[in-house]
Amino acid sequence: MDRFLIDHIDPLGQGVFKKDGEVFFIPKTLPDEEGIFKILKQKKGVCFGQLEKLTKKSPDRITPECRHFNTCSGCHFLHTDYSNELKIKTQTFARMLRDIPHLDIKVLASDQRLHYRNRIQLHYDKNLIGFKQSKTNHIIAVPDCLIMQPQLKQVFDDFLSQWQQQRRRLKEPTRGHVELYFKNNEIKINWNKPYASGGFTQVNEPLNKKVQDLILAQYGEIEGGLLELFGGEGNLSHKLNFDRRVCVDLYTDPNDDQVNLDLFKEDALKIFKKKVTDDFGCVFIDPPRSGFKGLSKWIEHYRPKNLLYMSCNPITQINDIKPILESYEVSDIWLIDFFPSTFHFESIIVMQQKS
Ligand SMILES: C[S@@+](CC[C@H](N)C(=O)[O-])C[C@H]1O[C@@H](n2cnc3c(N)ncnc32)[C@H](O)[C@@H]1O
Repeated sequence: MDRFLIDHIDPLGQGVFKKDGEVFFIPKTLPDEEGIFKILKQKKGVCFGQLEKLTKKSPDRITPECRHFNTCSGCHFLHTDYSNELKIKTQTFARMLRDIPHLDIKVLASDQRLHYRNRIQLHYDKNLIGFKQSKTNHIIAVPDCLIMQPQLKQVFDDFLSQWQQQRRRLKEPTRGHVELYFKNNEIKINWNKPYASGGFTQVNEPLNKKVQDLILAQYGEIEGGLLELFGGEGNLSHKLNFDRRVCVDLYTDPNDDQVNLDLFKEDALKIFKKKVTDDFGCVFIDPPRSGFKGLSKWIEHYRPKNLLYMSCNPITQINDIKPILESYEVSDIWLIDFFPSTFHFESIIVMQQKS
């Protein structure tokens, strides 16, 4: 058993402290808290611990609403209230943005801190089914998880109650994962397929509507054509007026304003220019966590007046915009709290071409 004194919270929601040249990460702690922890993993001066006992509690600590919180690694902030969670995330984002000239970070909070997710991924191993834990990869049962929106929770409850019978009938392997997804009053169950197989949609529908409103307030009418890279079905521009819009994505059904293209291909821009000859006054981009290193190439080619970059990984987002900061300035930065109770958040960076 070792003792800790937490200094700050890192981007993964873990309490951090340093001792004798080693750095320690202990989830579910808060700044200035003291206590005892158990070592889970230790390598080259980095140690991951598990909270055993608190000897000094933060005044910001509350009793977690979910009974699984202490054992499950799915949520990270239920030991403090929502305003403190938002404060921690904003501080994290501000640290990441330190090299980017910008105004204050604006925050779009979620109305629901729990009961919001419309999609979950469960892992199973023979009779056991639940969430996979981050450090150990163990599966733990979470029958009273509070993260799902009500209709999905109902499906989840029914699914669990039939699990033993279902498991015996299934042709799927004895180990794997299954995704439960609720959209447009329909439930989908995907066995052993990649995340969001069949087309990506945002997991927090009520907040997604607010994001569409935020983008509407920012742009209203788009002049000069809109290019939406990693656009799915055009979710971000759903409420906008535009003369012409082209959405580019790997998985959409190609039609008049959707182009099916692997944007990570070296020659993606060349292929796109052969298919679409328009100019664009506005570019939206919303890539996966890995970001889009090709951004500057596309921006140099189209030179749009306006650029909006939404991301679920601010680190890759910030790296991607650095090469265009000479010709584009940041006018707004938003932290979108799409995944309350967890360390994840989305960010929107709004940019304009410098005159
Ligand atoms: C974060 S989602 C955003 C989708 C959309 N903006 C929305 O809000 O629903 C990222 C999108 O990138 C697409 N994508 C992933 N890899 C891609 C690739 N190599 N080329 C093009 N699109 C890709 C996914 O299909 C997904 O629709």
